[in-house]
Amino acid sequence: LTIYRKDYTAPSFWVDTVEMGFDLDPKSTVVSTRTTLKRNTESTEKDLILFGESLKLVQIRMNGQKLARTAYEIDKHSLRIFNPPNEIILDIETQISPIKNTSLSGLYVSNDNFFTQCEAEGFRKITYFQDRPDVMAKFTVMLRADKKKYPVLLSNGNLIEKGKLSDGRHFAKWEDPFKKPSYLFALVAGKLVCQEEKIKLQSGRKALLQVWVEKGNLDKTQHAMDSLQNSIFWDEQRFGLELDLERFMIVAVSDFNMGAMENKGLNIFNTKYVLANSKVATDADYAGIESVVGHEYFHNWTGNRVTCRDWFQLSLKEGLTVFRDQEFSADMIGTNSGRAVNRIADVRVLRQAQFPEDAGPMSHPVRPESYVEINNFYSVTVYEKGAEVVRMYYTLLGHEGFRKGMDLYFKRHDGQAVTCDDFRAAMADSSGRDLTQFERWYSQSGTPRLKVATKYDAAKQTFEMTFTQSCPATAGQDKKQPFHIPVAVGLLNAAGQDMPLHCQEQANPTDSTTLVLEITKAKQVFHFTNVTEQPTPSILRNFSAPVELEMDYSDDQLAHLLAHDSDAFNRWEAGQRLAMRRLLKLTAAVQVQQPLELDTMFIEALRKTLNDSTLDAAFREQVLTLPSTTNVAEQMDVIDPQAIKAARDFMRSEITRHLKADLLTAYENNLTPGKYSPDASSTGMRALKNLALAYLQEWPKSSTFELADSQCANAKNMTDRIGALAAMVNAEILTGGTHKDATKSANKAVAHALKQFYNDFKQEALVIDKWFMLQGSAGSTDVAKMRKLLKHPAFTLSNPNRARSLIFAFCNANPSQFHAADGSGYALWADLVIELNAINPQVAARLARSLDRWRKYTPALQEFMQAALQKVAASKNLSKDVLEIVTKA
Ligand code: ARG
Ligand code: ZN
Repeated sequence: LTIYRKDYTAPSFWVDTVEMGFDLDPKSTVVSTRTTLKRNTESTEKDLILFGESLKLVQIRMNGQKLARTAYEIDKHSLRIFNPPNEIILDIETQISPIKNTSLSGLYVSNDNFFTQCEAEGFRKITYFQDRPDVMAKFTVMLRADKKKYPVLLSNGNLIEKGKLSDGRHFAKWEDPFKKPSYLFALVAGKLVCQEEKIKLQSGRKALLQVWVEKGNLDKTQHAMDSLQNSIFWDEQRFGLELDLERFMIVAVSDFNMGAMENKGLNIFNTKYVLANSKVATDADYAGIESVVGHEYFHNWTGNRVTCRDWFQLSLKEGLTVFRDQEFSADMIGTNSGRAVNRIADVRVLRQAQFPEDAGPMSHPVRPESYVEINNFYSVTVYEKGAEVVRMYYTLLGHEGFRKGMDLYFKRHDGQAVTCDDFRAAMADSSGRDLTQFERWYSQSGTPRLKVATKYDAAKQTFEMTFTQSCPATAGQDKKQPFHIPVAVGLLNAAGQDMPLHCQEQANPTDSTTLVLEITKAKQVFHFTNVTEQPTPSILRNFSAPVELEMDYSDDQLAHLLAHDSDAFNRWEAGQRLAMRRLLKLTAAVQVQQPLELDTMFIEALRKTLNDSTLDAAFREQVLTLPSTTNVAEQMDVIDPQAIKAARDFMRSEITRHLKADLLTAYENNLTPGKYSPDASSTGMRALKNLALAYLQEWPKSSTFELADSQCANAKNMTDRIGALAAMVNAEILTGGTHKDATKSANKAVAHALKQFYNDFKQEALVIDKWFMLQGSAGSTDVAKMRKLLKHPAFTLSNPNRARSLIFAFCNANPSQFHAADGSGYALWADLVIELNAINPQVAARLARSLDRWRKYTPALQEFMQAALQKVAASKNLSKDVLEIVTKA
């Protein structure tokens, strides 16, 4: 059942060409495939092994002859042809039922249209094939379907022919000029319309760009189109990589398991990452679209032109492409502080999701050693930690050094299926650097701890920094070797300015105020000279490595960094450290029922940041956003969700009590009247304003609630509408207790606002998702209310976006209710995992992850969690996907 990286062998046959014919019909689609193959003389395997799943084999012919039944063997997952000749032409006809395919992998139907999703192993649900990424071939695809029902027929590459057939049918023939693995195959057929634009590429060639959507959505494609053009120009400028096709298509589909898919020339997207206008999409949606459109486009080179040898190398394309999309989004903002805000958001994701993953039962290296179901390894570790690993090359080699490495990578491997080692070799060879030890970032799992101790000698004017690294044991890995860690440091003087850096162990090649120290040993000391006064060290600037930094900063040092650090990331980080320290203390105080207190020093530091108009609004918003419940939980030995929530609630209400006037001013100073624009400055202002509005709801008086109510009623864009609605929904229970009357009318107003919102947007699926999400994550939504929402006529488990909106919000973003003391949240979880497993294993497996960290909770909760896990494990017809998760948990 388990597949191991060490067992990799090359395929027994190479494929030259694939010609496919589809007779599309929802109930029964016939697929004919002609493949030309040549034996791989280096392989010891004599047979040809094709994978196939849920297929009906209609016929199979080899070199024009019907294949004798004794010449092959067939089971549930594969078709094996015994020792075929060295050069063969295979004709295979299969029959499939797209309408019955609820897994959304392979060929399926969504809103009466056809779509495919073949990564990682969906192609084998279409026909028998060596469905593995190192088998690359040139594809030609003929699509035939009813012309009225399916007027648009799309596949990869260039359209070379189209025309009429008898019986009201028509056809389109597509040819992809580039060799590709089967996971990049795609087709789309149905009633769709497109926005199209022609652009001129760097070389002077022209390209046709199209964004395909359902008819009612043509007013929501402009941002995706703009993002696509920006992506194309950015990749030309930053990496010298040009679009290699005459035409590039994006298609939006409302039933989709993930964000989007980089099929060659025919990217298929979850509607969530395409459709936007100011009425239905938030600033965050606009940013998400820009980054995912970029991500998929950048795959055209990092993923498609150079692909993965096997799925253990997934991060080769994903880590690299996430890094590229992060850089793209940062460059689109341009300003230094804008870049920092993006960096903060990326690091938040890492800490919120990847650090916990890496400390739990599903912990795996960026390049996993084994898997049961590869879909479970499209993980935050492979993607986001993988991107951090690529970023470390960038930090070590510098801007130009990294570019040289990329150039060499393409020079060596264009058109090939390669490994993470090949990428590392290109980086090493192009720079002349030894990156041998760097491999440990790919082979060792777990979040390294980096401890720092410092010593200042005023007489000698020296400053000493001692780094000690370690990495906790993780699933299947007890012992770890030291990592090669780039640590960017600076020293601040008492005035808050950067001091010149003279390090004995490592010269500063650019004479800048940030030096990248390279830590390679378990313990390492660095000596700085000519340090004229006691400095405040700023360590791990811009989060230069994905580690947990342990440093005994004093509160005063942190306040100094928060006020002055030239590195905006570390400025924010200092604020988070101040907050985290207090949240942990408060949580402990809640547990022993001691009085709760928050010091003035912290509140004044926040006040100063909030009121500092020299700082971007977006940055101030990040500083004022407290560490999440999950962030706090990860810092505790035993997680007590209710205590964390009480501590956080207390901190929020104390902040509001002291900063009410400042928050009101921030609210008023950051209104964005006029035409909506998703630019960084307006986005930042709305974010800060809506954060202030949310804080102000802690003020138990109706005036601030009315402010939210009125913003909700008068909002001119979705960001302000949902921002206000969220503030109101979360105020519902917060105003309880002390002000009974206010609570009553507030609850009425909330119910009214929710109803109004639903009525205004019931035609907009993506907005209704937001409506469910808001309620799933609201502190006032308990299990009983959840069961009611699950029965809402607009709710369905079979649409992944809808399922995620309500259920994932509850299980992952509503900790105090999900972890209800009676275990009812877990019981609900088990029911839903089991139900989803029968519909869509991939989505079910994602939900199954919500109990990953069960060992860290209080014993009473652990018992309920185990019972729920066992209930799922014991249920019938469990998919590999879910089985792997619950077994490992
Ligand atoms: N390669 C796609 C992306 O990074 C993700 C597709 C994953 N799909 C899946 N079923 N595992 O954008
Ligand atoms: Zn990707």
